[in-house]
Amino acid sequence: MNLNSLRPLQGEGKKLFIETYGCQMNAGDSEIVVSIMQREGYRYTEQIAEADVILINTCSIRDNAEQRIWGRLSEMRRLRKAKPTLVVGIIGCMAERLKEKLIESESGVDVVAGPDSYRDLPSLVRKAEDGGKAINVELSKEETYAEIAPVRLDKNGVTAFVSIMRGCNNYCSYCVVPYTRGIERSRDPQTIVREARTLFECGYREVTLLGQNVNSYHYDEVGFPELMAMVAEISPLLRVRFATSHPKDISDALLEVMARYDNICKSIHLPAQSGSNEMLKKMNRKYTREWYLERIAAIRRYMPDCAITTDLIAGFCGETEEDHQQTLSLMREVGYASAFMFKYSERPGTFSARHFEDDIDDAEKTRRLNEIIALQNTLSVASNEQEVGKVREVLVEGESKRSDAQLCGRTSQNKMVVFDRGDHQAGEYVKVRITGCSSATLFGEEVSK
Ligand code: 5AD
Ligand code: SF4
Repeated sequence: MNLNSLRPLQGEGKKLFIETYGCQMNAGDSEIVVSIMQREGYRYTEQIAEADVILINTCSIRDNAEQRIWGRLSEMRRLRKAKPTLVVGIIGCMAERLKEKLIESESGVDVVAGPDSYRDLPSLVRKAEDGGKAINVELSKEETYAEIAPVRLDKNGVTAFVSIMRGCNNYCSYCVVPYTRGIERSRDPQTIVREARTLFECGYREVTLLGQNVNSYHYDEVGFPELMAMVAEISPLLRVRFATSHPKDISDALLEVMARYDNICKSIHLPAQSGSNEMLKKMNRKYTREWYLERIAAIRRYMPDCAITTDLIAGFCGETEEDHQQTLSLMREVGYASAFMFKYSERPGTFSARHFEDDIDDAEKTRRLNEIIALQNTLSVASNEQEVGKVREVLVEGESKRSDAQLCGRTSQNKMVVFDRGDHQAGEYVKVRITGCSSATLFGEEVSK
């Protein structure tokens, strides 16, 4: 086995183009879809102009994610004019949410497939090639695509995603995911370890275990801490990350395993959403600010060097200025290394859409979001400045964007470092002294061997 055996097959066959929006789960799913379509003779292409089939893997998490995709769909009409046999499919969360409405719309969609019906895609596409429309949006209680070997579409050949579970049972009141991705189910750990080992043998040096809430992974006797240990044991040279955790069940057992293995990366994404207990309750997050801060303290106890990142929502239903200030104070108290920050976007069908009024007007949401972003910028700079002077092990991912004389890669804390190439290449570990930073990047120089 080598890297090429994981890459898309070349050669004759109808050409498939796939465009991916949304989260890392979607990126992972696109690789499963290419694998399924490839078995049926389709060949992956990066050139949309030569595609016979275009699949758009979509996201519904916020309204603006869906708006972007509608924009993209209207551009598809032009391509279809140039090639009348072209098949256009919508897959993923927006397919699951809008179902037939996508086929009935003006946009000329031929195929609609939800996140659990990808095995059916070849037959759906064939139906469309014969001139029909085809849809499958069944959700499943079991589907994990466990034995399907994803075709790797990443650019670097160093870092890869491995999906370990699907769906979500948490029902945060604002969130559409339980409706678009169905109930939670975990994948057989043997297939996960096998996939990670194959990646390692093919030259990959980092895997990110993916799920909506990885802490609730369980399959027979294997829970998430055990699974992390199993993957970490593959080789000390294989880095292991995970995303995403829910604060309500990030356990000491997991923190203990993270601390035990050097190759488990010291970085945790722990979405807080809000710093106000009132909002957390309405969001159905099932933890308080105090609980969250205790978990942060536990992380720091086990791993003083661990970077903590988060997601935050500004302007949720009924959020007062005081609630907003609580979010800002939580951010200061934790000192996040970085954050994804959003304005609340009402999603049809969710608990909050049905029961709460979306009563913070857009200008006010924007003002609050901008305050959050400005504060995070300061915190990110502060977090990066703390790195200056330290020596970190960097896993090289490739050339830096700005110059081919420089390489870029990440530290265990998931911070991007740029440094002079020397005689190194992607996939190597290099010890780098951090000499400077911006809010997004560290700069460094190799420590002589
Ligand atoms: N509006 C705004 N942000 C949302 N998120 C999830 N649903 C919504 C919504 N309706 C954010 C949360 C979550 C991240 C993936 O997206 O912060 O953690
Ligand atoms: Fe991912 Fe959620 Fe968007 Fe679906 S709705 S693609 S699960 S972020």
